[in-house]
Amino acid sequence: MSAAPADGARAGRAAGTPRQAPAMDLSALVDDPDTRIVVCCGSGGVGKTTTSAALALAAAEAGRRVVVLTIDPARRLAQSLGLVELDNEPRRVDVPGAPGELHAMMLDMKRTFDDIVSAHSTPERAEQILANPFYQTLSSSFSGTQEYMAMEKLGQLRAADTWDLIVVDTPPSRSALDFLDAPNRMSRFLDGTMIRVLTAPARAGGRAGFKFASAGFMLFTRIISKVLGGQLLRDISAFVSALDTMFGGFRERATATYELLRRPGTYFVVVATPEPDALREASYFVDRLSAEGMPLAGLVLNRTHPPADTRLSATRAEAAAEAAEDDGLVSGALRVHAERMALAAREQRLADRFTSAHPEVALRTVPAAAGDVHDLEGLRVMGEALTGADGDTPTGVPRTRVLPARRG
Ligand SMILES: Nc1ncnc2c1ncn2[C@@H]1O[C@H](COP(=O)(O)OP(=O)(O)OP(=O)(O)O)[C@@H](O)[C@H]1O
Ligand SMILES: [Mg+2]
Repeated sequence: MSAAPADGARAGRAAGTPRQAPAMDLSALVDDPDTRIVVCCGSGGVGKTTTSAALALAAAEAGRRVVVLTIDPARRLAQSLGLVELDNEPRRVDVPGAPGELHAMMLDMKRTFDDIVSAHSTPERAEQILANPFYQTLSSSFSGTQEYMAMEKLGQLRAADTWDLIVVDTPPSRSALDFLDAPNRMSRFLDGTMIRVLTAPARAGGRAGFKFASAGFMLFTRIISKVLGGQLLRDISAFVSALDTMFGGFRERATATYELLRRPGTYFVVVATPEPDALREASYFVDRLSAEGMPLAGLVLNRTHPPADTRLSATRAEAAAEAAEDDGLVSGALRVHAERMALAAREQRLADRFTSAHPEVALRTVPAAAGDVHDLEGLRVMGEALTGADGDTPTGVPRTRVLPARRG
């Protein structure tokens, strides 16, 4: 990132001493009765679903009644949460000994969309819309539908007021920002000029409407039908006119859910892996949250590789490996150590770079587990890494870091 040196200077750090990120206290956050919603965001594949489930479990073990809204969890994780089928409603997860309750659900985006249609139109209209091929495509594959429906479901869960805490996972979008942009994109799409133009005849009263359309407009419609196909055009047209009564509803709901995200009691946890792309996305997201006045709990740097022992530097281990060349075992072990130290140093550098650009953002590193995180025990270990005290680690390196801070 080209801005790094300037940011470092602005942060006023002494040469060679990167600024320290504030520690993130997720334990206090999920314990606090005033915390009602935690949203886990980040770019694709960084660990949003796992982090959401682990935080929800930690909150249930701290005595809260929690629901986690997951999106496309990996199959084995879904199974261990008892989510064997998509039913779009929370189910209780058996967590032996937990003073609180953990409920989990998987978002079924199409079902959520169908429910909104049914709830906001007459039965005949709903039937028409649900049977419409264009609606069926939109509700199951329009890019942004999943993000929008995740927000819808969050709104519904919050309105039910059944849970102390709702932990929300977000869809596997390329960009974390898609989640925040979805309501706007959806209402822009439904209200878009193109759609309005395409459906003008239908809205003017079905077939009869054509009588009043200008010759130029008829020609335009004919060309569009050729390009899009007449049937598709009729489907879109019928869909949008049927949906017309719901337009206001969609807008209002999108706005209301967006506002929910800005209310006190909602916090965002941004998840990234120690890789340049994921951290760049995290950076955009952090900027956007602050521009929108949405509270950020901090950055989870997931799947880091802290070495078991940090006293021997990579350079010294490398030199020692060379010196011990005739003892293959020793030099091999030293080389492995040197590699781990170099990897950790790279991860720490990336974290430092993020912190120098965003010195106010609290941080928590979560080490990579040996395998996938797919059962309650794995979630518990990850929950401990997320919520444990900052300084409470076997090597004494605070959980804010991958490697100890250099002195001086
Ligand atoms: N700390 C960790 N250690 C080891 N494996 C991890 C860790 N965190 C996540 N994983 C694994 O990484 C994979 C991706 O995690 P996850 O599904 O939570 O990511 P995601 O951000 O939700 O992805 P998507 O964007 O596709 O929804 C999973 O197989 C998960 O078990
Ligand atoms: Mg996921």
